[in-house]
Amino acid sequence: MALVSAKEMVDKAHEGHYAIPAFNLNDLEWTKAVLAGIQEANSPAILQVSEGAGKYMCGFKTVADMVRNIYDYMGITVPVALHLDHGTYEGAKACIEAGFTSVMFDGSHYDFDENVAKSKEIIALAHSKGISVECEVGGIGGTEDGVTSEGELADPKECAAVAALGVDFLAAGIGNIHGVYPANWKGLNFDRLKEIDEAVNGKPLVLHGGSGIPFDQVHKAVELGVSKVNINTELQLEFAKATRAYIEAGKDREGKGYDPRKLLKPGAEAITKKVVELCEAYGSANKA
Ligand code: 13P
Repeated sequence: MALVSAKEMVDKAHEGHYAIPAFNLNDLEWTKAVLAGIQEANSPAILQVSEGAGKYMCGFKTVADMVRNIYDYMGITVPVALHLDHGTYEGAKACIEAGFTSVMFDGSHYDFDENVAKSKEIIALAHSKGISVECEVGGIGGTEDGVTSEGELADPKECAAVAALGVDFLAAGIGNIHGVYPANWKGLNFDRLKEIDEAVNGKPLVLHGGSGIPFDQVHKAVELGVSKVNINTELQLEFAKATRAYIEAGKDREGKGYDPRKLLKPGAEAITKKVVELCEAYGSANKA
């Protein structure tokens, strides 16, 4: 199967009250490990890259070709969308050209009218090529320079206005943040989520900062319209933990020479295991 737009899988999840996991990719090992996990879980999924990860992997065209080739090479049969995460206006256009099947345009840092104008333009361009679009209203907090900001709350009226543009799914802050949640995190704001869900008239919502949100909160959010959950930090932590254990046990020094394929294997296996666990927890397992 070819890579697909994310619209159909997210709409189905919205109707079926489960969430599509969207896993951030960082390199070739990540791509293999995530694909192995979703195939094992028999789950549709979104593989996404930030612009920084795209640069690290030598550009969006390299990413698109790599994901397609690995998908084919591994004989993956579950539906997969390749999505740009937190794209700029230029980045979204570049990914549409490079063969992505879904893009996020994050205009949340513009003033609202400019966010609307640019979102509208990206939606028209992407839809003319069958590519799905995610937009963002209000910011999503997170850790920058070691300081963790509070999760922001999106304005339901602004969410309604962007939903009306015909976006396929919408990211809206409900107290979620990127990265590790601080011990004093207040949890998701379900009152605000309910207001947003009512305002957007059935548009699927996206939960950023999925790593570490307790599953009962994710389930409640899914009942209130969330149909895509983004995961990055959790896979990075799993990878680091497994790699560290391998090195600390001195296994990287066993045998002759140094083999990066062996060094990266435990981390990749840990990613695959976590991916399966998350597909099961979000209800997307066996929905391919
Ligand atoms: P985490 O790194 O907190 O999982 O967030 C991922 C994300 O939302 C990417 O957009």
